[in-house]
Amino acid sequence: ERLWLVVPAAGQGRRMGADRPKQYLPLAGRPVLAHTLARLHGAFPTARLALCLDADDRWFDPAWVPFAHWQRIDGGRERMESVRNALAAIDAAADDLVMVHDVARPCVTVADLQALHLAAGAHPDGALLAMPVADTMKREGGERQSVTTEPRDGLWHALTPQGFRFALLEHALSQAAARGIAVTDDASAVEALGGAPKLVSARRDNLKITHPDDLALAAAILALQAG
Ligand code: C5P
Repeated sequence: ERLWLVVPAAGQGRRMGADRPKQYLPLAGRPVLAHTLARLHGAFPTARLALCLDADDRWFDPAWVPFAHWQRIDGGRERMESVRNALAAIDAAADDLVMVHDVARPCVTVADLQALHLAAGAHPDGALLAMPVADTMKREGGERQSVTTEPRDGLWHALTPQGFRFALLEHALSQAAARGIAVTDDASAVEALGGAPKLVSARRDNLKITHPDDLALAAAILALQAG
């Protein structure tokens, strides 16, 4: 059984307001994308990588890819489409494990990657890294006013990676697309089929770089992890 890594990296990262997509912004001397791929390679040196990039991407440098087996995939309009393009292009067997990891999470640790890999292999519906919600959750009722408080019990933040058997993930994402369900992660497509992926408690520093402040935070996290 082989392990496939799908890294969606075809987003524009508009919320960063930067001159380039966020995966190419410098973080501790190297682009975010290079850090993310290095972390994945540290945990899974023999895995096969499918890297989803915008077809017009001018920033990518293949020197940042540490994997021996990898392929470039054209991204789609949405994250889900980028992942589906990768699944259509790889030569995976139904039982092979596929782990999908957002390029914008460069601080994921080898230990968390390994924990997720074990859980994804052990659970028929797959697994995702996740973190219990700590804050009180408010529902906005328009006009920036809080109208209700959502019970936080049992609420988790969904992180990546998320791992599934190839056949399940491919089927779940195809169904979501066919039914017009917009999913922002892979586990939600499996849930929409009635599946229940395992929540794997993750470190709190698996930050997703989204806003300009996040780069400095990510640099501090990497320095702390190295120390
Ligand atoms: O923007 P956001 O951080 O939510 O995007 C999540 C991930 O999906 C990022 O790694 C981004 O590069 C990727 N993505 C993609 N194709 C798209 C949109 C986003 O691969 N069309």
